[in-house]
Amino acid sequence: MTHGAHLTPAAAHKSDRLTGTIRIPGDKSISHRSFMFGGLASGQTRITGLLEGEDVLATGRAMQAMGAYIRKEGDTWIIDGVGNGCLLEPEAALDFGNAGTGVRLTMGLVGTYAFSATFTGDASLSKRPMGRVLDPLRLMGVQVEAQEGDRLPVTLRGPHIANPITYRVPMASAQVKSAVLLAGLNAPGTTTVIEEVMTRDHTEKMLAGFGAQLSVETDGNGVRTIALQGQGKLAGQVIDVPGDPSSTAFPLVAALIVPGSHVTIENVLMNPTRTGLITTLVEMGADIVVTNERLAGGEDVADLVVRSSELKGVSVPPERAPSMIDEYPALAIAASFAEGETVMEGLEELRVKESDRLSAVAEGLKINGVDCDESKASLRVRGVPGGKGLGAVSKDAVVETHLDHRIAMSFLVMGLASERPVSVDDAAIIATSFPEFMDMMAGLGARITLEQEAA
Ligand code: S3P
Repeated sequence: MTHGAHLTPAAAHKSDRLTGTIRIPGDKSISHRSFMFGGLASGQTRITGLLEGEDVLATGRAMQAMGAYIRKEGDTWIIDGVGNGCLLEPEAALDFGNAGTGVRLTMGLVGTYAFSATFTGDASLSKRPMGRVLDPLRLMGVQVEAQEGDRLPVTLRGPHIANPITYRVPMASAQVKSAVLLAGLNAPGTTTVIEEVMTRDHTEKMLAGFGAQLSVETDGNGVRTIALQGQGKLAGQVIDVPGDPSSTAFPLVAALIVPGSHVTIENVLMNPTRTGLITTLVEMGADIVVTNERLAGGEDVADLVVRSSELKGVSVPPERAPSMIDEYPALAIAASFAEGETVMEGLEELRVKESDRLSAVAEGLKINGVDCDESKASLRVRGVPGGKGLGAVSKDAVVETHLDHRIAMSFLVMGLASERPVSVDDAAIIATSFPEFMDMMAGLGARITLEQEAA
């Protein structure tokens, strides 16, 4: 589905305490990779708990266009993969909609094949930089046709035999790391990726689970060297996708800021490369009890019991950014209700997400009465405990979401605890990552209305 032409405005209103138990839908990062690796591997992959958001479904369609056979029986997605090295040339352009992970990882996956593949996306994705993935692919011998500034649409044509490379990822990016490793699957010899700061490690873990020959070494400074042997066999797997910690952020912050709330969030992925928000909220004084800790499909999973809390501002260390990179918009909302100042630094990557998230958050906070300062790579938020005076400062104070699902959800959460309602220009984009958001929040007692229904 293409967003942008028809916006669906929504507003959130001050709500009574939120209560209940919810089960968060599957992790987006793992869901994308499940479709990709299942589609590539020999034999059958069976997936339960898959996130059925628009982003992930676009990846599924791309894998189908390259030869994977994908269907759903009951709650299980079943994929018959093509076998490593055996993807087919897609007949039409692969449209990834809003999905940066989908397009960047698939460019790696198929870029080294000796045929051409074209990649397109929506208005948001077409503004995002692809050079970070295209540059290492060029080094591997891939011919690239792109729009100015290495933007979409992009057409790739791989060489007869791809060149395995050693690549130091210049920014903290799991997408770039992953794209190079996936390109290496179709190159002879060893492809090596060096990352200075650890980012989410789902690609490494899942590829090893599918049988790839891959080693990971971490030196005394935390620099990781990941070496992958190309052209090996991958075998289909059984995958149970744990709940998405990035989606968890929204009901979690909502429960903390709406007084009297008591919410249990089940099945949350607790991989340490993803738990920076929980660490930060606990430092702010959040009452979050981690229970029922268990291992599921090689990942740590737990339930979170959350009670509304009096939060205090903190300084979030920049080195924590990779473990909570998608959670800063939700943290900024929590900070708006905390006593004192919250300082967030090392945020340069937020400028190239589905929107320029740093400016989208700062703009949204300002038009809802929050005192904040934005600089090149940092955000300072001075909170108002109790939310007095917060909410739309005028009738036209509507948050611009810029086709960014996390901006939409963050500001709808804000309105649940603000004195005045908070409006966003579009809630339809939420379906890219969390189609159940509206129903789930309503079930907890949140008062969120779509414009047509608004009183
Ligand atoms: C992702 C990596 C991160 C994250 C994105 C998902 C992934 O992007 O923001 O939502 O699944 O690899 P970057 O690699 O750009 O940091």
